[in-house]
Amino acid sequence: MPTAAEPAFPDVKPYKSLSNDELSARIEAVRAELGPRLLILGHHYQQDEVIAHADLSGDSYQLSQMAADSSDCRAIAFCGVHFMAETADILANRPEKLAERNGELVRVILPDMAAGCSMADMAAIGQIEDAWSQLGEVVDTERLIPVTYINSAASLKAFVGRHGGIVCTSSNAKAAIEWAFHKSNDGKGGDRVMFFPDQHLGRNTALGMDIKNDQMPVWDPYETDLGGNTEEQLENSKVILWKGHCSVHQMFKPEHVAMFREQHPGIKILVHPECPQDVFELADEYGSTGKIINTVKNAPAGTKWAIGTELHLVNRLKQEHPEQEVHFLSPVVCMCATMYRIDLAHLCWTLENLRDGSPVNTVEVDEETSKWSLVALERMLEVK
Ligand code: 13P
Ligand code: SF4
Repeated sequence: MPTAAEPAFPDVKPYKSLSNDELSARIEAVRAELGPRLLILGHHYQQDEVIAHADLSGDSYQLSQMAADSSDCRAIAFCGVHFMAETADILANRPEKLAERNGELVRVILPDMAAGCSMADMAAIGQIEDAWSQLGEVVDTERLIPVTYINSAASLKAFVGRHGGIVCTSSNAKAAIEWAFHKSNDGKGGDRVMFFPDQHLGRNTALGMDIKNDQMPVWDPYETDLGGNTEEQLENSKVILWKGHCSVHQMFKPEHVAMFREQHPGIKILVHPECPQDVFELADEYGSTGKIINTVKNAPAGTKWAIGTELHLVNRLKQEHPEQEVHFLSPVVCMCATMYRIDLAHLCWTLENLRDGSPVNTVEVDEETSKWSLVALERMLEVK
């Protein structure tokens, strides 16, 4: 019998030479055997063949809710990226859920551990702590509220929980920043927000709340002094933005918007708020991946769309909505290389190991980090 240290199937390599049909059949066989004890979650950026095996799919907010609400499952295979699997572990194994299940843990599996998020990697906990202590010499950190985008490591979410802040997603960023200004600090609210790691989501959201660009200095963690800012800039700030971005969404440019408007009169530009300000401001509509899907679904037939978000999602929308005219808002390929790492071979490999009692690629957040992350995540789930 294999032990936990000795997987039944130690290497994914042999799976790579199997056809998609065989992999799909074997994945379905594991699903049939494990029944409701296994929940497969899939982010909207996943490849079609992976999404076909997901029990539920969603944007980051919806997937967090699904993990938080799960009850029958004892394992979640998370087809997404690392921060999503960490969040699922924290929410599915929070104390009240553990008590309901008499202490039984939900094991969270990430089919490929190399599926990270380059934006999340742009803010390390040591850099955040250093920025916080430097800021403490210029502004009152008791009234500085940290807001982290869910695209961040659990250690950052724990930092935010410890310092009275909140996690946000692309679907509730405005509500989260409003919460920080008005409801944090036991209802007293904060003077300013420190928003990380995505400067674009932070900026685009705050601009919609009447906060001006000159009230949003950017903190560059590679500048040794005050993140490259003057004391005056920080004292006058409302939102201090971290210098991070999504390498996928920064590929969309204003000239792409101009090109579509010229070539397709009447077209609507629909973007994810991770796009830079110059593209975001030219768009007709914006939203999380879930909102993008619903916007296309609910529009009158024949509406023309140019969509600025990850390629797999836009291609799926094209296929699923032949009644709409859907275009990808860039002449170049903008796909998330880390989301793409999850394929049928990795899914099949991790599921067969799970079934045979020798799980691989378990994502487990330590107790202390989970405890404080949960504080900030529960606030996230309360504001919408
Ligand atoms: P959503 O929460 O909108 O799905 O976004 C997740 C993400 O990583 C976008 O790049
Ligand atoms: Fe991260 Fe961008 Fe990929 Fe989203 S699309 S997971 S933000 S790298």
